[in-house]
Amino acid sequence: MIIVDTIQQLRSTLEPYRKQGQRVALVPTMGFLHEGHLSLVDEAKARAEIVVMSIFVNPTQFGPGEDFESYPRDLEKDQAQAMQRGVSILFAPSAKEMYPAQSLTTVSVSEVTDRLCGASRPGHFDGVATVVTKLFNIVQPDFACFGMKDAQQLAVIQRFVQDLNMSVEIIPCPIVREADGLALSSRNVYLNMEERSQAVVLNEALTLAEQALQTATNGEAVKEQVRSLIETKPLAKIDYVELLTYPSLEPIEQLETAMDCIVALAVRFGKTRLIDNRMITIK
Ligand code: PAJ
Repeated sequence: MIIVDTIQQLRSTLEPYRKQGQRVALVPTMGFLHEGHLSLVDEAKARAEIVVMSIFVNPTQFGPGEDFESYPRDLEKDQAQAMQRGVSILFAPSAKEMYPAQSLTTVSVSEVTDRLCGASRPGHFDGVATVVTKLFNIVQPDFACFGMKDAQQLAVIQRFVQDLNMSVEIIPCPIVREADGLALSSRNVYLNMEERSQAVVLNEALTLAEQALQTATNGEAVKEQVRSLIETKPLAKIDYVELLTYPSLEPIEQLETAMDCIVALAVRFGKTRLIDNRMITIK
């Protein structure tokens, strides 16, 4: 595995492979790697000869008072894991390399960002869309892999790629979970033992929603059931429980057969905000 930290090095490393016609897949991350990130590497390897992983804790997608400073970082361990999993090139730029001067340009997607984390974290998806666009321009990948764990992020990226005619194919990848159902996240390390044990309620709530939606006529009643289950955990503070169409992320007026929807949750346990979701097709 080759490790680079400048855009110039990355481009010159990729050039010979690209000239030989080898395909390139990109796995963008903020590091502190876990099996969720590494499963994206497997998907990338299945499609391309060259897998580029980026590790960059992007300051512009964190709001004031969010966890940018305390976001977990361990580049040495990440390097070992990325190499073991078969990453070809690890790109770990500094903030100065990515943002050498004040940027006057932002990629901003409307409507898809109106709800969920777009509403709870103003400006977050502008930061994500802009840095992912920069990474696409830097790496020029044929494929880029993203987890469905961040379903709204995936919808935002699919939308600007389509709207701006970017020539990268976006590969959605399934959510990887712990044995007890908690979705893997770099932020899970913030949880103390009690919060960690109560956090399994997220996955349980999604299973409840999935079952309830198969017979429900009223989405609001399903959301209420989900909220009640989460509220049985004393440390859980609900940010949102939403039932929306996917990928347009619009409210559902009437549940209809064959409708693709998403149940999405954001719940705080102490200072840790966790998100999870499930895609459900109404039977
Ligand atoms: P990060 O949170 O590090 O996640 C990197 C990628 O890993 C994302 O595509 C995310 O959806 C995926 N991922 C995280 N947990 C997962 C899980 N349990 N199962 C499957 N995939 C999982 O998302 C970001 O970084 C950033 O916003 C980024 C896209 C890199 C832009 O800065």
